Amino acid sequence: MGRLDGKVAIITGAARGMGASHARIFAREGAKLVLTDLNSDGGGALARELGDGAIFAAHDVTKPDEWEGIVSKAVDRFGTIDILVNNAGILGPIAATADLSGDGYDLVCAINQHSVFYGMRAVLPTMVKAGRGSIVNISSIAGMAANYGFPSIAYVASKFAVRGMSKAAAIEYGKHNIRVNSVHPGFIQTPMMVEATDEAGGDALAEIPLGRIADPVEVSNLVLFLASDESSYITGAEHLVDAGMLAH
Ligand SMILES: NC(=O)c1ccc[n+]([C@@H]2O[C@H](COP(=O)([O-])OP(=O)(O)OC[C@H]3O[C@@H](n4cnc5c(N)ncnc54)[C@H](O)[C@@H]3O)[C@@H](O)[C@H]2O)c1
Repeated sequence: MGRLDGKVAIITGAARGMGASHARIFAREGAKLVLTDLNSDGGGALARELGDGAIFAAHDVTKPDEWEGIVSKAVDRFGTIDILVNNAGILGPIAATADLSGDGYDLVCAINQHSVFYGMRAVLPTMVKAGRGSIVNISSIAGMAANYGFPSIAYVASKFAVRGMSKAAAIEYGKHNIRVNSVHPGFIQTPMMVEATDEAGGDALAEIPLGRIADPVEVSNLVLFLASDESSYITGAEHLVDAGMLAH
């Protein structure tokens, strides 16, 4: 029996990296999936790999009207929405505050932060109607501490915001049996991380007590737990998966 049998999940940013890893483990555990991303080639290929229980929809998470279309697709195809994983994100320009453009700041906040509001707003009516739901918002260690290895006030702002927004929604919607949690990964081996540093993770290794970069599935295992009924008494909480990095 799968740990997500009978559940329908939307995962954003699912074409590659951690989103693709979450999709694979969710499919293995029996979930029906709506995978979304800007990258239609990668997202479409993954949906085909996962079979009939998964569909892909092209989606820019910064566009509220596109969110309405994603919700309709999920409900039309699978009947309801039990799980939303707000995973899409960018690191954005790495620049000291005085050198960061307004456009760069706005883009990072639009993709990492505003999308989380649009996404929760879009799925909540369906979850309220069903009387259940689990929303997992992907923040970062940069949502817990500003010293995470790259100078970017925008990334830090967006990821701290995701943590607070998750708590606010958890308090508002607990009475509807809807749980909202934030996940705070450390250094995870994904295209985003490789593009920002190098295959080995740059200087980060020295700061990581377990002494290695994570495989994305090590985050997916936590996201799976929070999405499933196994975490039925857990909401409004932040969950680190950082190999002890913030223990310093
Ligand atoms: N990799 C890390 O070390 C790390 C650490 C902490 C947090 N995170 C967070 O985890 C999440 C996933 O990161 P990843 O490392 O897998 O990144 P990634 O770049 O490998 O994948 C991100 C995906 O999001 C998609 N995306 C970007 N902008 C989008 C938009 N506007 N609309 C829809 N999709 C969009 C991309 O096309 C891509 O497929 C992000 O929110 C990121 O901030 C990553």
